[in-house]
Amino acid sequence: MKSSQDLKTLLERIERKGYPAYKDIKGIYQFKDFVLSIDYVQGDPYASPSKVSIHVEGGISGFSKKLYKNKERRIALQDTILRKFGKEADKTAFKAKGSGKSGLIAVSTCGQEILERSSCRIQPETGNILLQVEVGLPANGRSINSREALKIFFDFIPECVRYSLYAGAFESRLLEDGAALADDQAYIRKMLPEMGLCAFVANGAVLPRESGISQKPMKDGIPFTSPASFEIEMNLPYRGRIKGMGIPKGITLIVGGGYHGKSTLLEALERGVYNHIKGDGREYVLTDSSAMKIRAEDGRSIKAVDISMFIQGLPNGKDTKKFYTENASGSTSQAANVIEAIEAESKVLLIDEDTSATNFMIRDALMQQVVSREFEPIVPYIDRIRQLYEMYGISSIIVAGSSGSYFHKADHIIQMKQYAPIDITDFAKEKAAAYPMTSENVSEWECPDFERRPLGRGNSGERRTKIKAYDRDGIQINRETIDVRYVEQLVDREQLTALGMIVDYAQLHLMDGKESLIQIVDKLVDVFSQKGLGTAGKAMPRKQEIFAVLNRYRSLKL
Ligand SMILES: Nc1ncnc2c1ncn2[C@@H]1O[C@H](COP(=O)(O)OP(=O)(O)O)[C@@H](O)[C@H]1O
Ligand SMILES: [Mg+2]
Repeated sequence: MKSSQDLKTLLERIERKGYPAYKDIKGIYQFKDFVLSIDYVQGDPYASPSKVSIHVEGGISGFSKKLYKNKERRIALQDTILRKFGKEADKTAFKAKGSGKSGLIAVSTCGQEILERSSCRIQPETGNILLQVEVGLPANGRSINSREALKIFFDFIPECVRYSLYAGAFESRLLEDGAALADDQAYIRKMLPEMGLCAFVANGAVLPRESGISQKPMKDGIPFTSPASFEIEMNLPYRGRIKGMGIPKGITLIVGGGYHGKSTLLEALERGVYNHIKGDGREYVLTDSSAMKIRAEDGRSIKAVDISMFIQGLPNGKDTKKFYTENASGSTSQAANVIEAIEAESKVLLIDEDTSATNFMIRDALMQQVVSREFEPIVPYIDRIRQLYEMYGISSIIVAGSSGSYFHKADHIIQMKQYAPIDITDFAKEKAAAYPMTSENVSEWECPDFERRPLGRGNSGERRTKIKAYDRDGIQINRETIDVRYVEQLVDREQLTALGMIVDYAQLHLMDGKESLIQIVDKLVDVFSQKGLGTAGKAMPRKQEIFAVLNRYRSLKL
């Protein structure tokens, strides 16, 4: 290892040289209380920035072991450190000047969710911390500006490190609160199945967001209050008693007039598979971690999925036990999404009428009389919803504003009325009795088999895979960009980058035409939770999203 003085000397030597001379500074340097490693040096000031990692030993950083004694606490602490570094680095005082990306100092941008990210890692045994930073090495035009570079490495970065990587820089209350929240959230998650629940929404939670483009809480949002009949109490290890709405397993319907807060509640449940930061308003809104949003997704590709549970006897004679299409319709896409959710072992399906294919959801009495059963390939979700619960233990939470058909099927009916939930189960059931259900004889079906065995890329493919995330919308793997716009529980671009890498790994190392998709995804989860996500800029996705991406990957061969 070189000394920080060596870096100084190197930088002074390359002053005003052509930009490629920066390559010489790659290496590892001992600073006073940390090690700085320049891992990658950009080729020119406009290219993607250089990569620097900072290592601080556990003994020096001084975070108490109890702050990272379990996984949830460790992830919360990593998140706190990363946010703090980011906040410091954003200060305008820390701006070196120059062309292109000169002067950039950046870490992962964290949203409202607390995710495990490769950019900040604490080693559980030693407490050693690794933080990865992007740096724009300064230039004037294309010649090196060492003066500004010296500021970055000897003033700005050490300042940011000082205020984020040592326990002394934080109020100890703040760190303890973060750890306590992590434990409380883990406790609620653990209690959900034990209490027979799919989700918990605490009284006082603020569900609406600031705007369609901001996940920050709405300023004057009306706090959530549970209807008495759904109210449950938990005794959290730190916060103590907390009350809120427990959504039981089974079939739950959320109804109500337009604009009364139905979708807002459902969206909070979708995101409740993640933990949220303090102050988010949804800290105590937690959903079964396997829950999946199910929606129509016209145009997606489907590969060998057995959708016969919902679709049989298509006019073009296509086999729906092994259904293939490069351009799914609303109903076939939503059917595939349900079957794939079963495959991904999801136990709760979240459905909003607004984003569903109507013909997938219901078939009304008049239509049943006019278009006879034998000419309708679709068995709507309403006719399978009970079987899904009874055969697979899969609960449904459905938002419906316009069709009362599901009243007959629901175990629990909640009306959102001016943003407040009320229990209308008995009332709605009574009303529904006056409109007897026109039950059709729908066909039996065999449990879908999940025997899809993907082939790898082997050696025929490109040597190095190009992986890139486009915002939260697409994952490029070599020539294909996988469209994940409608995989709504992906919340962060870094999850997409990680998914690109995970899919690539699967193709290179696991897919051999023998192992099933289920076996492959299980292995992927094992491999990456053990070895981590590697270089910066990645966030750990759920198993369900690994399936979701593989299912939408058109180049995947079976
Ligand atoms: N608790 C609340 N307090 C204040 N505004 C809310 C609340 N819940 C939702 N809203 C806002 O009301 C509007 C309609 O909500 P939405 O959930 O889309 O209604 P619905 O799906 O019932 O039509 C949205 O702009 C949303 O942000
Ligand atoms: Mg809505």
